[in-house]
Amino acid sequence: MAADPGAPIGVFDSGLGGLTTVRELRTLLPGEDILYFGDTGRVPYGTRGRDTIVDYTRQDIAFLLSKHVKTIIAACGTVSSTYPAEEGRALPVGYTGVVQAAAHAALKVTKTGRVGILGTEATVRSGSYQVALAAGDRKVKSFACACPLFVPLVENGHFAPDDPMAHLAAEEYLGPIKEAGVDTVILGCTHYPLLWGVLERQFGPGVALIDPGRQAALAMRDKLAQEAMLNPRETGGRVEYYVSDEPSRFNALAGIFLPEDAAASARQIHVEKYDLDLILKGAMPGVE
Ligand code: DGL
Repeated sequence: MAADPGAPIGVFDSGLGGLTTVRELRTLLPGEDILYFGDTGRVPYGTRGRDTIVDYTRQDIAFLLSKHVKTIIAACGTVSSTYPAEEGRALPVGYTGVVQAAAHAALKVTKTGRVGILGTEATVRSGSYQVALAAGDRKVKSFACACPLFVPLVENGHFAPDDPMAHLAAEEYLGPIKEAGVDTVILGCTHYPLLWGVLERQFGPGVALIDPGRQAALAMRDKLAQEAMLNPRETGGRVEYYVSDEPSRFNALAGIFLPEDAAASARQIHVEKYDLDLILKGAMPGVE
């Protein structure tokens, strides 16, 4: 599977939230084609056990490889925190999650060395951000908090800066992190950047928020440039969307995450039929 600079960037997520990363990639790299897969039939991942998340991730990656993407971004905070890094390194194309780029950005921004991490239950349980922060600076203190209601709130349109339900949930979750006196907070789940205005008000002006999707997109731009793998075209990149559930909900909600492509329309695939081992052996014909 030789990678070709003209091939698409593969982006995947447990559902719609990874479109926040697509938005950043479209802004930074408008000439790139993107192939997006959202596992809408099996979302959420964030409440599931490790083995299930890893199995789902292997199938998601197998689908993207079957489409000959040149590199893969796991936009999902839960996948990025759970899928083993050594498996990612063994793939025939580059694979990256969002954790390293976001932790790196947080370490650059924090002055007090006190960093908050918000994510799904699986992300917080994995300790991925805590480990990445400590690897960059052993003196940094991290404070993590799972915010399970944030995903359904966003998907139901409750993300305006003054939304009362979003503020109620934020107050319920964020007390200990605020009390810890953090000056930087990583929004470690695809949906949380949509709550930027709410979280800015909650934390106040002295706290910097980090969007992992944006940081991963910036890191991807640099990596593709270093590897001479950028699409030579400067504009006109297109996005193809695939989902595992019937696409109507994706098509209705995509505009929340990607206002520039509100008319995005997805095709359904049967992701459970994609077997990573077979794809890697070249023994699996395309199935959709
Ligand atoms: N995409 C997931 C994440 O970023 C949130 C939704 C889910 O739990 O699957 O962690």
